[in-house]
Amino acid sequence: MATIAFKTLDHLDAAGKKVLLRADLNVPVRDRQITDATRILRLLPTIQELAQKGAKVIVVSHFDRPRGQRVPALSLGPIADALGDALGRPVTFVDDCIGPAAQKAVDSMQNGDVVVLENTRFYPGEEQNDPELAKAFAALADCYVNDAFSAAHRAHASTEGVARLLPSFAGRLMETELNALNIALENPERPVGAIVGGSKISTKLDLIGNLLEKVDMLIIGGAMANTFLAAQGVDVGRSLQEADMHDTARAIMAKAHDRGCEIVLPVDAVTATDFQADVPTRIVPVSAIPTDAMMLDVGPETVKLICTKIATLKTLVWNGPLGAFEITPFDAATNAVAREVARLTDAGVLKSVAGGGDTVSALRHAGVEGHISYISSAGGAFLEWLEGKTLPGIMALENIFERALPI
Ligand code: 3PG
Ligand code: MG
Repeated sequence: MATIAFKTLDHLDAAGKKVLLRADLNVPVRDRQITDATRILRLLPTIQELAQKGAKVIVVSHFDRPRGQRVPALSLGPIADALGDALGRPVTFVDDCIGPAAQKAVDSMQNGDVVVLENTRFYPGEEQNDPELAKAFAALADCYVNDAFSAAHRAHASTEGVARLLPSFAGRLMETELNALNIALENPERPVGAIVGGSKISTKLDLIGNLLEKVDMLIIGGAMANTFLAAQGVDVGRSLQEADMHDTARAIMAKAHDRGCEIVLPVDAVTATDFQADVPTRIVPVSAIPTDAMMLDVGPETVKLICTKIATLKTLVWNGPLGAFEITPFDAATNAVAREVARLTDAGVLKSVAGGGDTVSALRHAGVEGHISYISSAGGAFLEWLEGKTLPGIMALENIFERALPI
């Protein structure tokens, strides 16, 4: 989506204001434990700034997918506790996100207080973007701050509807995410390249189509590369691939050629007959994949090729691992390329922006998390941005901007 103008916390005179802060507290949880607190930690600067300026900070968020039902196991209560721990100060949790209980809690807030309201998706109107629910959110506050970039692809009452009813601002995390995407794709320093991995072309068609228009080089890895190779007549053995996407893959190659976007495909592969940890593997050129084997990672020659190519870039966007990185040794190429991206980033010669789905876990697994210019906290929203789609949560911020500042 194109760059948009939006108001930030710099434009908000927060002192004494009731601020409805849309966060994304949808953190991964296993056995009641938060397995990755990144989204909580990234939210802290906005909450701290608002509280310090004397706002009453009313945090709303969805959690998981209760589908309009009050599901006790999906209460935001435990996440609110974790947020309080991260902030190092108590936050009040309210077991409803609208209505008398929420109103009562807000009425008793002092400047600088933080409350967290219950899961917005306990109401069916949230996902339906019900105007009545949006009004009920708006009734609690004087203004709205959206810091949930990772939920901005959803046109829901707490991400979109309410932004049309209150003066609205982007929080610091939202601002950082938008700036990073702007640097990576909308106004990048060229040459700009993208690494796109993952398993299926069919789920990334829009993304590749949009990237082709914007980048100078597209490096394709993961099982998706198998489909591109097979479409060119390479025998990929038993590798995962989408036979019905060959025409599409060829059309993508042709379009890239017309646009002067270089496509980089694997030249060798790590193959095995079973997809299991530490099975015997064979490294072969892509022209010699055994008929009974599967490509599970790109090979060392491909890693060298990719590293050479990346060294020519000034900006890199990364979405999707190069191999089946969850299982050793098929994480080797992703790890090696990640380390090179980190090295170039640390050296100040490459701006690197990564995000979406498995990418963050792959980069964390490679141990380079702190050495990438920006790693998005978003999954689906990051992908939809790469697809060139308009994100409703962000558009709503922009519209308010135009309405609030008549020329
Ligand atoms: C996410 O984790 O992608 C966001 O929190 C949005 O959640 P959703 O995919 O359930 O809408
Ligand atoms: Mg999602």
